[in-house]
Amino acid sequence: MFIDSHAHIQLSQFNRDRNAVLKRAQESSVSTILVIGFDIETSLGAVELADKHTQIYATVGMHPHDAKYLTPDAFKTFRELATHPKVIALGEMGLDYYRDLSPRPLQKEAFEKQLDLAEELRMPIIIHNRDAYMDILPILEARQGRIRGVLHCFTGDVALMHRSLAIGFHIGIGGIVTYPNAKDVQAVAQEVPEDRLLIETDCPWLTPQFRRGKRNEPAYVGAVAEKVAELRSTSIETVGEATTRNFEILFAQA
Ligand code: NI
Repeated sequence: MFIDSHAHIQLSQFNRDRNAVLKRAQESSVSTILVIGFDIETSLGAVELADKHTQIYATVGMHPHDAKYLTPDAFKTFRELATHPKVIALGEMGLDYYRDLSPRPLQKEAFEKQLDLAEELRMPIIIHNRDAYMDILPILEARQGRIRGVLHCFTGDVALMHRSLAIGFHIGIGGIVTYPNAKDVQAVAQEVPEDRLLIETDCPWLTPQFRRGKRNEPAYVGAVAEKVAELRSTSIETVGEATTRNFEILFAQA
């Protein structure tokens, strides 16, 4: 059994065949899907799917791209959505210095506000990072012991992994690990302690190598598990069991 710990199947890319996508996930031993919100609309969409399907859980949060839209009203909506019984984490939140779609000071402000909410509600968080470890890690280190969560789609090197582990965070490994030139991600997948590893698709993006260029979907999380197992010289079942257990502990309600 596998859990896809990061999927965006609420998006319109799945409107035409969402039920078939869910069926393929089930047939591919994907027991649970965590659907991630990244603004108001996609957070509402995630909650709506979680309401409809027992195997789906949701997160709500504001992506750094849209940090400028985290108005007091938007924040109030997130706070209300967070109390929904199937919302098990906040995010994705974080910093994105690759695309810089919101000014960096605003990104930081929105990130800190959501971290405050996570502390207050004692909820785990989903971190998005792009070229911003140098700023994200000190922010998380300052709150060490008061927050927990996952650095999703981890693309740092082994040294950054160790720093993230020291803060108590989990490491999310996605489809990039299957790309031939992804040496850093492969080294991290090999070295991350078994009790800190999560697997994810980040679908519809980051499709594993065997279908690269096509739309990604939760059924393909097994391809991530397979590559991780190969790198760790273990079985795909071991990776499935460990990552399922880790997910259940981190997101205690799930
Ligand atoms: Ni995502």
